[in-house]
Amino acid sequence: MRFRRSHYSHLNLLDYDAYIDEPQDYKGKWNEVFSNNNDLEIEIGCGKGKFIIEHALRNPNKNYIAIEKVDVILALCGEKINELGLKNIRILNYDANKLEEIFDEDEISKIYLNFSDPWPKNKHQKRRLTHSKLLNVYYNFLKDASYIEFKTDNRNLFEFSINEFIINEKYNLESVNLDLHKDQELSKDIITTEYEDKFKNMGNEIYKLVSKKV
Ligand SMILES: C[S@@+](CC[C@H](N)C(=O)[O-])C[C@H]1O[C@@H](n2cnc3c(N)ncnc32)[C@H](O)[C@@H]1O
Repeated sequence: MRFRRSHYSHLNLLDYDAYIDEPQDYKGKWNEVFSNNNDLEIEIGCGKGKFIIEHALRNPNKNYIAIEKVDVILALCGEKINELGLKNIRILNYDANKLEEIFDEDEISKIYLNFSDPWPKNKHQKRRLTHSKLLNVYYNFLKDASYIEFKTDNRNLFEFSINEFIINEKYNLESVNLDLHKDQELSKDIITTEYEDKFKNMGNEIYKLVSKKV
């Protein structure tokens, strides 16, 4: 998927109502941002936001935060949210490695990780969003008995991630699916991401795991 930053250089995150410029200010107070106490779910590395925007559309009684470290990609997510007039979603231009600065204990009801960058070299393992170091960070702000859902088409990253959840005693691995779209009838109801659509259409198997905070 080729992405040309220059095509989108006119976009400015500050133009989007959903954009939160100083998310550190809301640590422990995200319910004030949404003016309600509804469950708050986050996607880390949301890309253009297709997946989390669809969740926000289907679930008006939940709140969502889309997190993406590349500003222009996140701006495309902001564009779509503006078009739809969605009020239950916010966007953050933030790095997953600093999430403890913006979320407090028990603030988050679910975490979605979709098609995270694989970082194939062993020396870069710690950059993977399912590395145990980050699972420990997520643990601190996830509510008890809440879930992390992870999808990818990358076999090596998936096997690595299963292992990270198994060795981490703070989580129970609840389910592993090695071909999420095998049943076409069931597949129709699955909310997909941009990358998922692309790789599914190429014939790749899509893997999914669900893990629960103990
Ligand atoms: C391969 S794309 C997948 C995008 C989307 N989730 C999908 O499935 O279509 C991975 C995204 O994660 C973002 N990302 C990677 N590392 C990140 C980090 N440490 N913090 C926040 N976003 C990150 C990248 O910028 C990229 O947009």
